[in-house]
Amino acid sequence: MDITAKSNVGDVVRFNFRTSSVFQANNIDYCCGGNKTIDEACKESGADSDRLIAELRSTAESTDPDTEYINSLSLSELSDYIIRRHHSFVRKNIPFLKEGLDRICEVHGNAHPELFRIRELFNESSGDLTIHMQKEEIMLFPYIQQMEASARGGSPLGKPHFGSVANPVRMMISEHETEGRRFDTIAEISGNYSLPGDACNTYRATLSGLKDFETDLHRHIHLENNILFPKAVEMESGLIGKQS
Ligand SMILES: [Fe+2]
Ligand SMILES: [Fe+2]
Repeated sequence: MDITAKSNVGDVVRFNFRTSSVFQANNIDYCCGGNKTIDEACKESGADSDRLIAELRSTAESTDPDTEYINSLSLSELSDYIIRRHHSFVRKNIPFLKEGLDRICEVHGNAHPELFRIRELFNESSGDLTIHMQKEEIMLFPYIQQMEASARGGSPLGKPHFGSVANPVRMMISEHETEGRRFDTIAEISGNYSLPGDACNTYRATLSGLKDFETDLHRHIHLENNILFPKAVEMESGLIGKQS
């Protein structure tokens, strides 16, 4: 891939996931903002586009086995992978982080009142994400798997109750944006997860866990917004073309 100012941020990360850390270091959102060109993203973040492109090109020179693996998966395999790797990560970490936030609010809340807002945001996020993942697992991913089976010559595809795959995809993308904004706020008010001098071990573990949670969420959203969803929309239009 020739990375230029006109390249889409999401396409660059899809080509080589190593580039995600370059975007991240330059405050460019590669998951929810993946549809922007490098030029547009640099104008928003204030990054120097020539320097960024040079860095992205050199980073993308070494191949990434993880990206190669993701790109080798069928859509059914990719949706299963997302559930196994990312949905289970979210489910596993929510109770641990909630407990940690409750404890540090109790012990450090007076000295660091921003912790109450962080807890409030995380509680909203964990509730919404739980429902969001259920929608993907019960409604959207099974339909994508049916489409793929149909495209491989199985039974014809019935019309889903949501009309077209583009409708739940649009809803999921909008929910991803809400989560992205919540975590932007958490990162901002925590000083990018920095620790005060009086932080205890629970404080450390909770803030580092929140940071890991955000990093995992970015990759999770990238796999859906930039890979699974556009391929599913494309596959559906191909199937409709064949059936009509
Ligand atoms: Fe998901
Ligand atoms: Fe999602």
